Amino acid sequence: MQLNDPSNTACSLQRHSNSTHIIAIIPLNACGTQIEEDEENLIFKNEITTLDNPGDLITRKHQLEVQFYCQYPKQGNVSLSFVAHRKNITVWEKGFGTFTYQFEFYPNNQFQTMIDPAAYPLEYDIGNRIYMKIKATSSVNNTQLFVESCRAAPYDNPNYRPTYSIFENGCQMDPTLQIHSPADQKEFKFSMEAFKFIGMINQVYISCSVMMCEAGNSDTRCSKGCINSTSTSPSRSKREAVIQSASHFVSQGPLRLRRSAESVRATATNLNLNLVFIAGCVLAAVGMVCGVVMYRAKVSKVKYQPLPTFES
Ligand SMILES: *[C@@H]1O[C@H](CO)[C@@H](O)[C@H](O)[C@H]1NC(C)=O
Ligand SMILES: *[C@@H]1O[C@H](CO)[C@@H](O)[C@H](O)[C@H]1NC(C)=O
Ligand SMILES: *[C@@H]1O[C@H](CO)[C@@H](O)[C@H](O)[C@H]1NC(C)=O
Ligand SMILES: *[C@@H]1O[C@H](CO)[C@@H](O)[C@H](O)[C@H]1NC(C)=O
Ligand SMILES: *[C@@H]1O[C@H](CO)[C@@H](O)[C@H](O)[C@H]1NC(C)=O
Repeated sequence: MQLNDPSNTACSLQRHSNSTHIIAIIPLNACGTQIEEDEENLIFKNEITTLDNPGDLITRKHQLEVQFYCQYPKQGNVSLSFVAHRKNITVWEKGFGTFTYQFEFYPNNQFQTMIDPAAYPLEYDIGNRIYMKIKATSSVNNTQLFVESCRAAPYDNPNYRPTYSIFENGCQMDPTLQIHSPADQKEFKFSMEAFKFIGMINQVYISCSVMMCEAGNSDTRCSKGCINSTSTSPSRSKREAVIQSASHFVSQGPLRLRRSAESVRATATNLNLNLVFIAGCVLAAVGMVCGVVMYRAKVSKVKYQPLPTFES
């Protein structure tokens, strides 16, 4: 038995079949699958046929021909939900044990009560100060937290470019940045003005690269503070795991710039277009594979015989 186009080994029907069932997993874009469409659906058709001799193009004893299709509605409704607020990040590292980073926004410079996670995405007007605190909790005493860089970007993905630098290599980059004196060595409090950057895109995450060091050791990255030059690699190669941890990525958000009613409407349209696009992607992903199970019982009228071998 074979599909429309059995030339690809992935189209073999033997792969998943057993002695009682023929199981076919058929790609939508291979094995001779034909695509048709009507008003509402995309229809992917293929068929399973028997052949007398492997490689024959025609058959005179057409014993079995099973046509089948998978169809997918061209339109659908999708809804998207996500948890905006990022949880604590817990890591384990040799010499430091288990430690946790907490990155939260605060309503004012008292840094007392963090903003309720249910309030995300947070809305700011231009010029409002954004108060942020990163706090590390470690089972090992005598450790200190260091914030190497902080950036604003539309996604909380460390590899996303371009970003807006707030902090880089321990140096202040944003002119409105203010560092508030911490309660202890394991926290970092800072604030900055809500910036125009937020206004150009829907949302912004603040993402920081942080690390832990042995407190009071002058050889650690933490005690060096701002390093201006780009040739800071020696300190990395000399790194001893015991006195400083690797860099960890923490992020929080999203933040939004408060908009006028007009721009809200514009965003809504954008979002709808996005949803259509996402719907398309989901459909494509779901539709990559379609499966067929045939029961031999249904075709029991057919007599199966071993195929003659080629020996001349
Ligand atoms: C063949 O596969 C089908 C589907 O996975 C299964 O229900 C059936 O029990 C299998 N038959 C044998 C003999 O393993
Ligand atoms: C999508 O939602 C709209 C409005 O809720 C509804 O009229 C329509 O039938 C839905 N379409 C599908 C394919 O479910
Ligand atoms: C996050 O860590 C802080 C301590 O740094 C702790 O008080 C808080 O309960 C933690 N939150 C969650 C959700 O685990
Ligand atoms: C850490 O310090 C606290 C008080 O500063 C002390 O009670 C505790 O025993 C110390 N733990 C370790 C593992 O040294
Ligand atoms: C850092 O670099 C800037 C120019 O890139 C220079 O103006 C500044 O003096 C440097 N600071 C230190 C501490 O080297």
